[in-house]
Amino acid sequence: MRIDHIGYAVKNMEKARRSMEVLGFAFEEPVDDFDRQIRIAFGENDGYRVELVAPMEDGSPVDKQLTTIGPTPYHICYRSSEIEADLERLQRERFRVLIPLAPAVAFGGRRVVFLYSLSVGLIEIVED
Ligand code: NI
Repeated sequence: MRIDHIGYAVKNMEKARRSMEVLGFAFEEPVDDFDRQIRIAFGENDGYRVELVAPMEDGSPVDKQLTTIGPTPYHICYRSSEIEADLERLQRERFRVLIPLAPAVAFGGRRVVFLYSLSVGLIEIVED
């Protein structure tokens, strides 16, 4: 699977965006995901993509990262052209589903799933 992006948990979207622009990233307009209570902005630098994820309210999926570590990269997302098959394969290899496969607004309704591995931590998969 190819890497799609590195996901950052951030507290302040505008400030995080400015810091990443200093590092050479150019950003798309942020997208609000009301189901997950997060605002998301994708940036790109020479083929590398980052995703900034900021909470809209308490209870968002990035609260834990922000309260325990502060702003931080917290997942790597992989692209899959056969997401069901890859999901099964990863689960056989002891990746556990944390957030089940579901459409995501930030990906134009394409489905994403989050898995956790005791040896490499949190990953996301997005369907191609
Ligand atoms: Ni992501």
